[in-house]
Amino acid sequence: MTTEKIEKVFLSLSAAMLLVFLVALFYSAFAMGIHLPDREGEIHPAEVRSTPPFDEPGVREVGPNQYEVVMIGSAWSFTPREVRVPAGAEVTFISTTTDVIHGVHVEGTRVNFMLIPGQISKITSTFREPGEHLIICHEFCGAGHHLMYGVLIVE
Ligand code: CUA
Repeated sequence: MTTEKIEKVFLSLSAAMLLVFLVALFYSAFAMGIHLPDREGEIHPAEVRSTPPFDEPGVREVGPNQYEVVMIGSAWSFTPREVRVPAGAEVTFISTTTDVIHGVHVEGTRVNFMLIPGQISKITSTFREPGEHLIICHEFCGAGHHLMYGVLIVE
C-alpha cells in the first residue's frame, strides 16, 4: 500500500469512529435517558445547616418503597455517615456542601456525583442487592480528603 492509501484508510477510520461515538452519545442521552445528576436548586453554603431539608440530614421514607437521603458534605465528613435503605427501594440523594467541592461515590454502584458550593445535587438510584458499600469523597478537598467516607447499608 502506498502512503497515500494508508492515510486515506486512517482518515476514514477516524471519521467512522467519530460517527460511532456521536451515535453512542445521542443514543445514551435520548434513547436511554442517561444524563448528569439534576441541579436541584441553589443554596448559600453558610446557611446549609439551617435551610430545609438540610437542617435535618438523614434518611426518611417519602412514599411506598421510596426513600430520601439528605446528606451534607463538609470538610472532612459526610452527615449522616451511615445510610440504611431497604433493597429494591427507590432512593433519592439530595445533597450539598458547606464549604469546598466534594464528590460522592457509592462504591460498586453507579451513584457518583459532585457537591458544589451553592448548589444542590439530586440523584435517584435503586440498590437491588443487600450489602455494604463504602461512600467515598472523590474530589480532592484538602488535608483530610482521604478520611472523608461513609457507608451505605442495603438491608
Ligand atoms: Cu471531600 Cu475529598
